[in-house]
Amino acid sequence: MSKQVTIESVRTEFRTDSKLVAKNPEKHESLKIKFLGRKGLVAKLFSQLSKVSDKDRPKHGKDLNNLKYEISTFFDKNKKNKAGSSTGPTDSTLPGPKFKIGYEHPLQKTLDDIKNIFKNLGFSIAYGPEVDDDFHNFSALNFPEEHPARDMQDTFFIEKDIVLRTHTSNVQVHLMEEEEPPLRYIVPGRVYRNESISFKSYCLFHQIEGLYVDKNVSFADHKAILEFFVKQMFGSNTKMRFRPSFFPFTEPSAEVDIWSEKSGQWLEILGSGMVDPEVFKSVNIDENIWSGFAFGLGVERICMLKYGIDDIRLLYQGDIRFLEQFK
Ligand code: DAH
Repeated sequence: MSKQVTIESVRTEFRTDSKLVAKNPEKHESLKIKFLGRKGLVAKLFSQLSKVSDKDRPKHGKDLNNLKYEISTFFDKNKKNKAGSSTGPTDSTLPGPKFKIGYEHPLQKTLDDIKNIFKNLGFSIAYGPEVDDDFHNFSALNFPEEHPARDMQDTFFIEKDIVLRTHTSNVQVHLMEEEEPPLRYIVPGRVYRNESISFKSYCLFHQIEGLYVDKNVSFADHKAILEFFVKQMFGSNTKMRFRPSFFPFTEPSAEVDIWSEKSGQWLEILGSGMVDPEVFKSVNIDENIWSGFAFGLGVERICMLKYGIDDIRLLYQGDIRFLEQFK
């Protein structure tokens, strides 16, 4: 049978032994095992705890924890000192540590690329509120009262009539309220949707809205501008198509798809159309004088297509192993 030990006997033994470590640092490891190892003295004391009477156990347990704390602190501190002193004198001629250089985030790069293409076409950049009222996010854009986009399932409501904007189209309304045409703007920004998070959707993402209002703007102008954008962004050989679609605030409406060789299918990259006369009416612009087109691009979508990223969540995790691939 192994020798019985007491808290007191272990404490005395530790205090004697710890002086030894100070003189012989190489004893550090073996003494640590002697006291703190799986079969060490402290473990032994703990295994004896069950034999202590119920009455004495709380005090005994506390004493034992104090002892364990004293011993572990000693070994932790000693290890640090040892590491500190082992570096020796500094050789100032050695090369310093290498610093990693940061790179532009692929999402930022995509945003900047898109902005530059439209800037070269004479568009200015505007920004608008991320928290907005129902009028700017929905009503003025001709969304009927019972439209499913207004559903709590899809939209984050702050109050009854205040939402986190679900698209950057709200800024179309602000721009037309605040300025007289002609207008030629793009609006980058964050938008929010109450969607379950998956590889293809996130509760927050980025859009760039475009708005072009002038006299005699035609559907052909709208087509030409978007075609130019796609060829600049994805290369002049990119296959693209305009597909008829529906948005409450444009008439006629279209979606633009580009052909993906990799996945062998058409992929949607933006929605667009001619500004619906109802929208002009809600912001007091005379639809008999002015016409225009609007479009909305999903920045994450374009970024993922351009760089072959297959999970949207990668864009928000700040994982350096992912980001380093975009040097
Ligand atoms: N707001 C639309 C969305 O979030 C995108 C969009 C479609 C914007 C057509 C437009 C447009 O300006 O004309 O799905």
